[in-house]
Amino acid sequence: MGLERVALGCIETPRKRTAETLPILTPADVDLLMAILAGQGDQGDIRSVAYGALRRLGDSRPPTEFRIPGSFEYHHTLNVFALSLVLGNALACGPAQLVSLATGALLHDVGKQLLPQRVMAKPGPLTEQEREVVRHHPILGVTLVTKAARFGHWRLSPEILETIRQHHERFDGSGYPDGLRGAAISRSASIVAVADIFDAMVSDKPYSGRAPAGLAHQTIRSMAGRQLDPVVVEAFLRRVLPYPTGSEVILSDRRVARVLRASADTPLRPLVGVDGLEIDLGTERALEIRGTIVPRAGDRTSLAVPVRMNLGEAHAVWGKTVDLSPDGACIDLVGDRQALGGDVEIQFCEAGALSEPVRARVCWFRKGGDGTLRIGVHARGAHLLDLASGLTRQAG
Ligand SMILES: [Fe+2]
Repeated sequence: MGLERVALGCIETPRKRTAETLPILTPADVDLLMAILAGQGDQGDIRSVAYGALRRLGDSRPPTEFRIPGSFEYHHTLNVFALSLVLGNALACGPAQLVSLATGALLHDVGKQLLPQRVMAKPGPLTEQEREVVRHHPILGVTLVTKAARFGHWRLSPEILETIRQHHERFDGSGYPDGLRGAAISRSASIVAVADIFDAMVSDKPYSGRAPAGLAHQTIRSMAGRQLDPVVVEAFLRRVLPYPTGSEVILSDRRVARVLRASADTPLRPLVGVDGLEIDLGTERALEIRGTIVPRAGDRTSLAVPVRMNLGEAHAVWGKTVDLSPDGACIDLVGDRQALGGDVEIQFCEAGALSEPVRARVCWFRKGGDGTLRIGVHARGAHLLDLASGLTRQAG
């Protein structure tokens, strides 16, 4: 049939989420918003999705996690949509303003569709000239939504057009395209700017990795009154916690802990549970959070492949992968194991053949009740999935 390769044995198993950490957008909302961005769908759909999300925010136990984990290209716009609604809600915007805000947030980067593909699809950092081209996207966005046939029957308010045009303006006047400052920038555009910057920092991007949520949180805080509207940042710090209750975090000693109670007063030092103990990071200053375990729905594959880990000086341990992503693996080590740390070398094994060794870093570990050890390793740019599935192919 002209196919060169067929993937075998790759079954995605989306992780279970607790009701506490459920994002405010449902899978049906995601489908609807993606259809709108692809040119099908209606302005009324945005309103119904926004009202549904606001209802979930107003529940007696509102969700504490708002972002959809996964591919930056697909989910960034939707995460900006969700975060903007959270911030608009925290700032007590009225229903009409929230719908305008949501529409502007969804369409804020629509102008990028008109930029040259060679710039948008470039895997590495952009040159100064290419950055200049990208800077046209707010104005191109306004042109697109006011002229394109697919938006022809929409009623786009001046607020929506302002949000699209001004979402890269900065509070101190350092933004583009018009260099507006302070109150000259619309409230909706200021909200979308905060959501856009935060989500870009905490997402895996094609050209760079994600920043730890705590660092992104601190960065937004440090930008208040400078690049970002302090009123919006205040609402952000109050409502968006870097380590929400129920999330899994990696401690500075590489143990995995679960956040038991998060508070806006000490957002970086919540109460956590690890190995059956409760630790209040507010008082236990020797420990800190180094990162989060992000549930990723799309880019992980459950594949059980035997792995040999070379720990140096002819010392090796064996295990098997639980899941794999292009540059990371979750591995169960066989037998009762002590904690591992630092750099290791891993090799996949199939039918007696070992793959090339790959350098990887142990990011976290978690002890099972029966003495087993599960570890998370990261090997940037290693194409682990190709390496492991290549072996599976060779083995027939
Ligand atoms: Fe943008």
